[in-house]
Amino acid sequence: MIQGATIIFSLKNEVGGLVKALKLFQENHVNLVHIESRKSKRRNSEFEIFVDCDSNHEQLNEIIHLLRKHVNVVDMDPPDNSCLHEEDMYDVPWFPKKISDLDKCANRVLMYGSELDADHPGFKDNVYRKRRKYFADLAMAYKHGDPIPRIEFTQEEVKTWGVVYRELNKLYPTHACREYLKNLPLLSKFCECREDNIPQLEDVSRFLKERSGFTIRPVAGYLSPRDFLAGLAFRVFHCTQYVRHSTDPLYTPEPDTCHELLGHVPLLAEPSFAQFSQEIGLASLGASDDSVQKLATCYFFTVEFGLCKQEGRLRAYGAGLLSSISELKHALSGNARIMPFDPKVTCKQECIITTFQDVYFVSDSFEEAKVKMREFAKTIKRPFTVRYNPYTQSVDVLKDTPSINIQSKSGVQAHPVVLSFGVEMSLLSFFFYYYYFAVMNVHSHLTKCPDVFVIQLMILTAVWYALLLMSAHPTDPKSCLI
Ligand SMILES: [Fe+2]
Repeated sequence: MIQGATIIFSLKNEVGGLVKALKLFQENHVNLVHIESRKSKRRNSEFEIFVDCDSNHEQLNEIIHLLRKHVNVVDMDPPDNSCLHEEDMYDVPWFPKKISDLDKCANRVLMYGSELDADHPGFKDNVYRKRRKYFADLAMAYKHGDPIPRIEFTQEEVKTWGVVYRELNKLYPTHACREYLKNLPLLSKFCECREDNIPQLEDVSRFLKERSGFTIRPVAGYLSPRDFLAGLAFRVFHCTQYVRHSTDPLYTPEPDTCHELLGHVPLLAEPSFAQFSQEIGLASLGASDDSVQKLATCYFFTVEFGLCKQEGRLRAYGAGLLSSISELKHALSGNARIMPFDPKVTCKQECIITTFQDVYFVSDSFEEAKVKMREFAKTIKRPFTVRYNPYTQSVDVLKDTPSINIQSKSGVQAHPVVLSFGVEMSLLSFFFYYYYFAVMNVHSHLTKCPDVFVIQLMILTAVWYALLLMSAHPTDPKSCLI
């Protein structure tokens, strides 16, 4: 079976070492899908080559055997002992393996379209119910890769949004965390987020993609915790597109687009927060119902209702707080019960939907919350671990390894740098050298002038070493990806 494998090697100090090594892959019909050079973390002065290839077990063994003659093989991630097969996962709850798999679970909403509860402000409003069904149908028809439908919001909807926007913006300078305050103006600048305009989700999705790699997917209503968290694993955030009922702009019994845009989006644009969110999502994939519930509760008390300390003061970063005027005031009033965020404790706390939370959890930073969540994720029992591959926006399911891992096992941060400056320079200088050597050889033969040939050869050798040194100390930071 052909599967992806990763090999890391360092070059021995010989001319054309890289070319020789790469030629081995060609000769053994192994397809290289990615190659990059990077400075060694192990030996400061050395340079390492990271190669992703498609191979089977026999090919990989042969390549490793041959490579050892020319390079120092530092690490490898062979396919036969790392990836878990479908047949090994018969008792694991289904979960999406690639981003387009979200099409299979994003429509499993717990509440749909016009089916509002009797105590919903829009329950008796047929026009509102019809409008809600319109939004629900759009979301249900959405497929991965589609542009998110642009909405022509009614005057009533824009007015409702405007009230929420205006009142919340009065509180943000004194209640929102600094990351939120940094990103909110960007939302205005790039997505026309204003009091008199509701941003389009398609614009917001493009904005987030550029800032943190997150994208948005429209959803008809509440998803189960498992399905919602699964989206986060792929840096996909499920967003409602409807607006709350106009009779009570400062209250909504369910997430609406005001909550998504003003509560979630500014922080999803923050890379450290985006990674924190994704790690919760990755930890949830294939976990037991009990574990998913614990993760969802931690998500609820951080991403929805989290507090942090900044300059000695409490600030809100949870979207549920940042989109609710009354609860935002209450959480920072000094009267609310505050506890340090500890996933082991937090995961047992009751989530309250209809009124204020009994307790709010505070972290020093997203980084601290992320570290705690990562440790907590290790305690979740799964017979496998997952590795996110940002090139393909998919997860590799690996046999049980110590923890969830966004980076590769070998520690290489996965970024789409295909061929780094260092490798390019090595290849270029290799061809440069041999081409001129051949020309000069002919030249000296014709002119019968060996002195000129020797001098020219010395100059070319000096150029060759200069190029080699440049390739060993790349100036492009993207080529050093440990
Ligand atoms: Fe939310």
